[in-house]
Amino acid sequence: MTAAEQSSDWKDLELERLYIDFAEEHLNPLWTQLGDLMPMVPTSRALPFVWRWSKLYPLAARAGDLVPVGRGGERRAIALANPGLGGVPYATPTLWAAIQYLGPKEVAPEHRHSQNAFRFVLEGEGVWTVVNGDPVAMRRGDFLLTPGWHFHGHHNETDQPMAWLDGLDIPFAHYMDTGFFEFGSDNVTDDATPDISRAERLWSHPGLRPLVGLETTASSPIAAYRWEHTDRALTEQLALEDEGYPATVEPGHAAVRYTNPTNGGDVMPTIRAEFHRLREGTRTRPRRNVGSAVYQVFEGTARFRLGDQVHTVHQGDLITVPSWTELSIESQSPLDLFVFSDAPIMERLHLSRSLTVEGA
Ligand SMILES: [Fe+2]
Repeated sequence: MTAAEQSSDWKDLELERLYIDFAEEHLNPLWTQLGDLMPMVPTSRALPFVWRWSKLYPLAARAGDLVPVGRGGERRAIALANPGLGGVPYATPTLWAAIQYLGPKEVAPEHRHSQNAFRFVLEGEGVWTVVNGDPVAMRRGDFLLTPGWHFHGHHNETDQPMAWLDGLDIPFAHYMDTGFFEFGSDNVTDDATPDISRAERLWSHPGLRPLVGLETTASSPIAAYRWEHTDRALTEQLALEDEGYPATVEPGHAAVRYTNPTNGGDVMPTIRAEFHRLREGTRTRPRRNVGSAVYQVFEGTARFRLGDQVHTVHQGDLITVPSWTELSIESQSPLDLFVFSDAPIMERLHLSRSLTVEGA
């Protein structure tokens, strides 16, 4: 063995020892993992993935037969667990999405937590969610808010079960260690069943702000955004487009964002929610966004192009779009889509970035 070879062997041995000593002291050298820590572009561990409503609903119904709802478990909610995230119940790195199922005459007890929550109703009615003592009817197409630290419980007044989509910022709160939780009343604090909530009676008049509500609030005071308003707004956008006026985000693509009337921004500090309507045969421009999103098909059939994957999706199906995944949607019928994302976090922290992929 030459002197140079001996020196090289000695170095290899010393390097091995160095790494062992690093590990013993809970140290980790950057040079072995730069690509993971600082990728050239966001490379999410979360996967683009589709959950089928045709599978979700029957499973939730079986849980309805077998699992009681009540204090302790609190909710019969079944979370979408992104297969890229190692088994945690997170749809994306920041967002929780679950199907919640409430049987006939059942009550989900009141509680509150620092995590922000919403409900979106794909089908059914007959449940009231009581938010800080205000009963809010849940009906098809409605988008309902439970901002952080608002007490909330649900009760089903009918002989039929009801299921809906829950969306929360649970993963984000978990990583940030910001979670607080408090139990409330075992029964809802107001079991009245009004058509609209007190919050809507005060706030849901287009362009009219009550003078008792001039302060800016972090979350929207509107408890429920009703389907009739969303539907009309989208119908009018497409009608205006037909008449030659600018109204749509791209040809055949109408869209609205649910907003907080006190500041014009997103409904809650961590969650953006929108509704999109595509005419049959529309293809959206391929786009990448920093941050993640979850879509639910409200009506119709579409092809979701997610990177190099193509998924055909139908009513009720849920689709995750991880950060920086190229997305284009092709409607194969008139298409209605609900979507929520973590965009307010990204914008507030100046991490927002998007790219429209030209010529795709
Ligand atoms: Fe809750």
